[in-house]
Amino acid sequence: MTIIHDDLLDAARAELPGVVDLRRTLHRHPELGLELPRTQAAVLASLEGLPLEVRTGDSLTSVVADLDGGLPGPTVLLRGDMDALPMPEDTGLDFASQIDNTMHACGHDAHTAMLVGAARLLSERRDELAGRVRFMFQPGEEGSGGAALMMDEGVLDGVDGAFAIHVAPNVPAGIVGWKPGPTLASADEIEIVVTGRGGHASTPQWANDPVPVACELVLALQSMVTRTVDVFDPAVLTIAQVEAGTTHNVIPETARLLGTLRAVSERTRHAVWERIRRVAEGIAAAHGCTVEIDIVQGYPVTVNDPRFASFVAGVVEEHLGPGREFQMASPVMGAEDFSYVLQQVPGAMVFLGVCPPDNPEPFEAPACHSNRMILHEDVMADGIALHAAVATDFLARNGDLTPI
Ligand code: NI
Repeated sequence: MTIIHDDLLDAARAELPGVVDLRRTLHRHPELGLELPRTQAAVLASLEGLPLEVRTGDSLTSVVADLDGGLPGPTVLLRGDMDALPMPEDTGLDFASQIDNTMHACGHDAHTAMLVGAARLLSERRDELAGRVRFMFQPGEEGSGGAALMMDEGVLDGVDGAFAIHVAPNVPAGIVGWKPGPTLASADEIEIVVTGRGGHASTPQWANDPVPVACELVLALQSMVTRTVDVFDPAVLTIAQVEAGTTHNVIPETARLLGTLRAVSERTRHAVWERIRRVAEGIAAAHGCTVEIDIVQGYPVTVNDPRFASFVAGVVEEHLGPGREFQMASPVMGAEDFSYVLQQVPGAMVFLGVCPPDNPEPFEAPACHSNRMILHEDVMADGIALHAAVATDFLARNGDLTPI
């Protein structure tokens, strides 16, 4: 059974002015990490007066709001992340960041505002809801693992399905990209320190120079990835920082490599960890150096439940209109802490195209994490409608995702 809300998009558009205001307020005053007091206060103020049960986090400035429908049923969670990035903003917008080196360049201001819009819209229609909608306003997505901390504080208790939207400036406005299975990559930090013996640069034979060993290692790691990893279950290993030495005539004692490993299956991820160790230890030993390898585990692979992802695609077609969704050919190699949520409950994250109107080609628009990232604010109405439609339909189906 599907309940059709022909007026859902209109209702979402009615919420747009308030949502744009909130988004711009958040954009002007971005905050970083797990402590977002100003953002939290703005969200709480926006939810005031709605028939919600609201609680805030203990170990972070999260907001969890429950909306109980008029009928009993399962619980569906909608998530919006709220944190910004430590970087300058160069958009020239009149509501550009007023905080030095802090910018909402990943669209989390829009995610938060859209989720508030959905809470307002669904509150008006609470009698039609057959279950509970939980709104998860999350700090600390950009590396702090805020989702996992909220899970420790019980955000998933009783939750039967979970949904999140990420904006995508490089996708045409209003188009929704979705994918079953692995959708975003895992992200681990790799640090390798090669230790030799320092000395005079004119007499390398009396030292043990770690610099060529580190260079050999950078190349060997690339060969290892291309020769041992299945291209259809890929990994990306980038050494992004190389550090050694202090001047032209001193052989340093150590050389340090820092990089990132991305994978879209836990199997490949774990296999590459082992191979990094083997290659680094082997090459260092071959030259009489020692090596220390530190693999800092970041977010796991974000895996969409295939049935939930298809369900969302159907919701897009039905409520936003035909031709508004496409199945992505490949995962995105960025990472997300919504991955932790999807390890526990079936759900999906989808990408909502927000390419600004003056970009002839979406790929030319500054991407997420760019200092010039701009999004098409009108599309936030589609995001509000999509949140509301996914929640309403999931509950109307009693959480049953069997295709209908
Ligand atoms: Ni993001």
